[in-house]
Amino acid sequence: MAKLTQKDFLKSTIKHIDMKKYNVVPMVEAFENMAYSSRDLARASKIYHQMLSDKNCSVILCIAGSLISAGLKKIIVDMIQNKMVDAIVSNGANIVDQDFFEALGYKHYLGSQHNADDNLLRDLHIDRIYDTYINEDELKVCDETVHKICNALEPRPYSSREFIWEMGKWLEKNKKGKDSVVYNAYKYGVPIFVPAFSDCSAGFGFVAHQTERPTAHVTIDSAKDFLELTKIKIKAKETGLMMFSGGVPKNFAQDTVVAAEILGAEIPMHKYAVQITVADERDGALSGSTLKEASSWGKVSTALEQMVYGECTTLIPLIIGYAYHKGAWKKRKATNYVKFLQDEDKKIAALKAKENKAKK
Ligand SMILES: NC(=O)c1ccc[n+]([C@@H]2O[C@H](COP(=O)([O-])OP(=O)(O)OC[C@H]3O[C@@H](n4cnc5c(N)ncnc54)[C@H](O)[C@@H]3O)[C@@H](O)[C@H]2O)c1
Repeated sequence: MAKLTQKDFLKSTIKHIDMKKYNVVPMVEAFENMAYSSRDLARASKIYHQMLSDKNCSVILCIAGSLISAGLKKIIVDMIQNKMVDAIVSNGANIVDQDFFEALGYKHYLGSQHNADDNLLRDLHIDRIYDTYINEDELKVCDETVHKICNALEPRPYSSREFIWEMGKWLEKNKKGKDSVVYNAYKYGVPIFVPAFSDCSAGFGFVAHQTERPTAHVTIDSAKDFLELTKIKIKAKETGLMMFSGGVPKNFAQDTVVAAEILGAEIPMHKYAVQITVADERDGALSGSTLKEASSWGKVSTALEQMVYGECTTLIPLIIGYAYHKGAWKKRKATNYVKFLQDEDKKIAALKAKENKAKK
């Protein structure tokens, strides 16, 4: 038998679902009169629709797990392009290993969790995410591209939001990734925060960059991320959280209420909150902790929150698709929080220049 090669495994690509094609409104509305998860899903869909209908509410989208590789990229891009989201908090895997990776021209492939010979996949440089395959050699180009972006920047601390904006700029300059989350967020002024930025392909690029340039290099300032997201919360006042999966992004976004309080701002808790997750609350950990529980910490208001228990790839097209087809986004105004944060940076730079002048 001929030896198997990479090509035998990397044949059919993951295709990103287009929620615009399927009007799920009648089905989701029918779920309202059913029970269990269907009714939870209908309520969550309506809460998201309410967030978009509320002209004072800014929507923060939180993403964990591996959702871009799973075919949900176009939904997130459509959310950005149609003003259905004002800020994004994500893990690094979705933004760098999966979205930026695809923006470079690479794909995720349909694989199998049942008959995968993981040792053979290892030999062939194929990485597996459950039933999805990735060409590891291509992923190394993603690490290397982050390395190159670092090398081209002024050595100083950056928030992940600033660095991801630079990645969007790089895509524009290199005419790549028009259908990516990173590029569209750059183009539409939607900030993306990745609080654990080194815990993904970007980390490999950063260690190479910092080793090569030990005395002057780019660093990621996670505290600046938190301050920037808190500034958005203070400016927005009313906010709604749409959380896919859980993880670090969930807590990071929720905690802005507490941080704003520490800064002396009088702002409300997150008014709306929806979380879709397979995690449950038995372990006391964050991902499965209910939104009701978050209200005991002063983070989320209890009136308009909904947990939906299930896997994201099936539930997100229904919940976000419902809100898309209901169309409240048509009346929303773009917030452009990127410009707001860049203006804040300019104020700090002016202050620094003044201080330096006074020292001389
Ligand atoms: N996910 C990956 O394949 C991957 C790859 C490289 C690096 N990383 C890094 O590892 C860290 C943690 O990863 P994580 O964000 O996947 O966190 P995680 O594994 O802790 O997941 C967060 C929670 O979301 C739930 N969840 C995940 N996917 C879901 C889905 N499809 N539907 C419903 N619920 C779901 C999980 O059960 C968990 O409770 C991050 O820093 C990330 O960048 C992850």
